[in-house]
Amino acid sequence: MKTLVVYYSRTGTTKKVAETISSMIESDIERIIDTKKRAGPFGGLAAAKDAILKKLTKIEATKNDPSDYDLVIIGTPIWVGEMSAPIRSYITQNKESLGKVALFCTSGSTKVQNTLTQMEELCGRKPVAVFSIQQKNVRADNFEEDVKKFVEEIKASS
Ligand SMILES: Cc1cc2nc3c(=O)[nH]c(=O)nc-3n(C[C@H](O)[C@H](O)[C@H](O)COP(=O)(O)O)c2cc1C
Repeated sequence: MKTLVVYYSRTGTTKKVAETISSMIESDIERIIDTKKRAGPFGGLAAAKDAILKKLTKIEATKNDPSDYDLVIIGTPIWVGEMSAPIRSYITQNKESLGKVALFCTSGSTKVQNTLTQMEELCGRKPVAVFSIQQKNVRADNFEEDVKKFVEEIKASS
């Protein structure tokens, strides 16, 4: 299965998970770059505001066409119970080009179901697998076993 991992990461957590998934599954990888500056406390506040209002943001042009892939794995940090604005923009712009999807998120808490459901609804299809991990486990390098299960679930679906 030709696979692309697409992710947005503000502070590196989702990046670390995305890179691990991508190397385990031997996929291409695409980092979504937001044109809006998100660093620092003011960037965080703006991120929260955009997420609450479900606002789209202008993202930089992507390198890979999702329609070239059998499966696109999409990952986001959770922002106030929502997917991040850059991932909302990516899915909105590309949903017609998506085939099979798998979804993952990183978060501070374990309350992730709402975000995953909203991503599924925005993609307009049921994901072949979903996965979530708390930031503290990523920081402690305690996530590879969970990623393995996610990758196995994806492989079993093909
Ligand atoms: C603006 C903002 C809002 C957040 N809201 C939530 C939340 O509602 N629930 C949660 O579990 N974590 C929340 N978090 C924590 C992030 O989801 C978590 O730290 C994530 O792993 C960060 O990923 P990143 O390093 O890839 O940016 C929030 C973080 C930010 C910056």
